[in-house]
Amino acid sequence: MRVLELDHPLVAHKLTALRKAETRSSMFRLLADELVTLLAYEATRNVAVAPVEIQTPVTTMTGTRLTDPKPMVVPILRAGLGMLDGMTRLLPTAEVGFLGMVRNDETLEVTTYANRLPDDLTDRQCFVLDPMLATGHTLIASVNYLHERGAKDITCVTLLCAPEGLKTLEEQIDPAIDLTVVTAAIDEKLNEKGYIVPGLGDAGDRLFG
Ligand code: PRP
Repeated sequence: MRVLELDHPLVAHKLTALRKAETRSSMFRLLADELVTLLAYEATRNVAVAPVEIQTPVTTMTGTRLTDPKPMVVPILRAGLGMLDGMTRLLPTAEVGFLGMVRNDETLEVTTYANRLPDDLTDRQCFVLDPMLATGHTLIASVNYLHERGAKDITCVTLLCAPEGLKTLEEQIDPAIDLTVVTAAIDEKLNEKGYIVPGLGDAGDRLFG
């Protein structure tokens, strides 16, 4: 598993504004959207491409095009929806599938309540969007779900990760999966309630009330 924590002043600046308790939903959505576009730039670094012959106004040349099958972008409902526009802005031809998962605030266990994904994800590059990787249970379930359908190349795009969750993810995911986590920051720890510290609170509530 590869973990890429972005080291960029714009990411740090926008994340700081996102963390502030006084940042309201409208600004939170805007900042999350901008951050995801910056994360998407790194997350798509290994997206599949092929050469293509083109004609410029001056000459012909060999350019680059995204190849088929189209990448699959999977926001995890509900908070991952706040990351969808930022990702598809850079990958407008991607197909979008949905997974609905919710964490029980007491047991921290995850249940899946919705899915709208193709049955066969063989050879599809998948980008999973979820702002928070806390215990890691949600992303473990999501990655396994995609892997059961044939996906082997999966990139998780998150705003914040807890070190404990990253460790659990690495321990519990099949090493045969080519798994990358791209994040704006790895925070200090999880608290006893399963919240990331210092974190930004409950991303779903802050995005959607
Ligand atoms: C939050 C968050 C992640 C998950 C992370 O979602 O958006 O999906 O918890 O926690 P974990 O790493 O410990 O599994 P939540 O279950 O609150 O649902 P929501 O997106 O509908 O708010």
